[in-house]
Amino acid sequence: MANGETYFHPNLIPTHKRLPVVFTHGQGVWLFDEANRRYLDMLAGIAVDTLGHADPRLVAAISDQASRMIHVSNGFHIPVQEQLAERLTRLSGMDKAFFCNSGAEANEAAIKLARLYGHRKGVDCPTIVVMDKAFHGRTLATLWAGGNTKIQTGFGPPVDGFVRIPFGNVSALEQALGRDPTIVAVFMEPIQGEGGLNLLDPAVLDQIAEVTRLHGALLMLDEVQTGVARTGRAFAFQHSSIKPDVMTLAKGLGGGVPIGACVVSGAAADVFGIGSHGSTYGGNPLVCAAANAVLAAVEADDLPTRARDVGDHIVSLLRARLAIPGVREVRGRGLMIGIELDRPCGDIVGLALEAGLLLSVTAERVVRIVPPLTISTGEAEHGVEILIQVVTEFLRRRP
Ligand SMILES: Cc1ncc(COP(=O)(O)O)c(C=O)c1O
Repeated sequence: MANGETYFHPNLIPTHKRLPVVFTHGQGVWLFDEANRRYLDMLAGIAVDTLGHADPRLVAAISDQASRMIHVSNGFHIPVQEQLAERLTRLSGMDKAFFCNSGAEANEAAIKLARLYGHRKGVDCPTIVVMDKAFHGRTLATLWAGGNTKIQTGFGPPVDGFVRIPFGNVSALEQALGRDPTIVAVFMEPIQGEGGLNLLDPAVLDQIAEVTRLHGALLMLDEVQTGVARTGRAFAFQHSSIKPDVMTLAKGLGGGVPIGACVVSGAAADVFGIGSHGSTYGGNPLVCAAANAVLAAVEADDLPTRARDVGDHIVSLLRARLAIPGVREVRGRGLMIGIELDRPCGDIVGLALEAGLLLSVTAERVVRIVPPLTISTGEAEHGVEILIQVVTEFLRRRP
């Protein structure tokens, strides 16, 4: 199927445009297609495959758990889920976790929690501050918490209860909080992924936390993409000196197995109780065994440090070699890296595929690389070489 036309299977709803390649297996940072051609995976299933492909520790955890018991429901104690909650709270310094199946679901939990927190404070119509260019998922509430009008089109009426400010703008936040007594929470990504790899100075997050706290609102961080060591710390908020009230996780947490988490602390820790939220699959033994294996490997291999070191190396190589017309900026934190061009560059994904490299383009003009955190320096340098060739070739062909 490689190099073919875009193809849609007649029995699949065509929600996703798919590249003309079929992978049969992976090993570490490499994926192999039907012709056994290998591709360097600097996409990691969109920041999901934390340990790369076929990591023996993750494979063993999943197959061992599957051979004993996959699912029992949350009507029972699940020790492997309790263990995962202990791990997450120890790593984050937070108090409790609720498990679900995706990033959007984790964010739905956060939005519901904020509303319940508001109602308990006597706010009848609670409002949540959200950011321009935010992405929080594709369910109804998360769609309208996000700032991408393109993906909202056709799905009105909008979900109410959000007020939007520019990303990371502290004075706009102060004004909104001063103006609107119904605001009960501030909800944002510490680094925007889908919105174009938009970084936030950690000191600004400190200020946002302080302003939010003074107002008595909850600070809720969407760490679905930034969490689990991706940015060089276990969680991106740890670049600042704050602790959020709510943090959502998914993507990298399961290393490819679908799991989401809504982690809470302080004023948010005791908002949900019996019956206020739930999930059939959320936190079942299979996914929790996988997530425990991922987090154990993150600690054993000190993947935050690797993400920071390899990420810094990639950024400095790219900055040195891509100081050319057409490249606006190379930016990143840890292994969440973007190259912003001065023109739409979706075609780079196909060019990179032909050259044996997997990556994505976000916000039309930003080439994004989010490789497995286990990537070695040599593998990263190999990827950078291909990337530079592909970007240079693209800019030459599309002046
Ligand atoms: C920051 C952020 N939040 C939420 C989501 C939605 O996650 P999911 O696709 O697992 O629902 C994403 C997905 O890209 C994301 O990047």
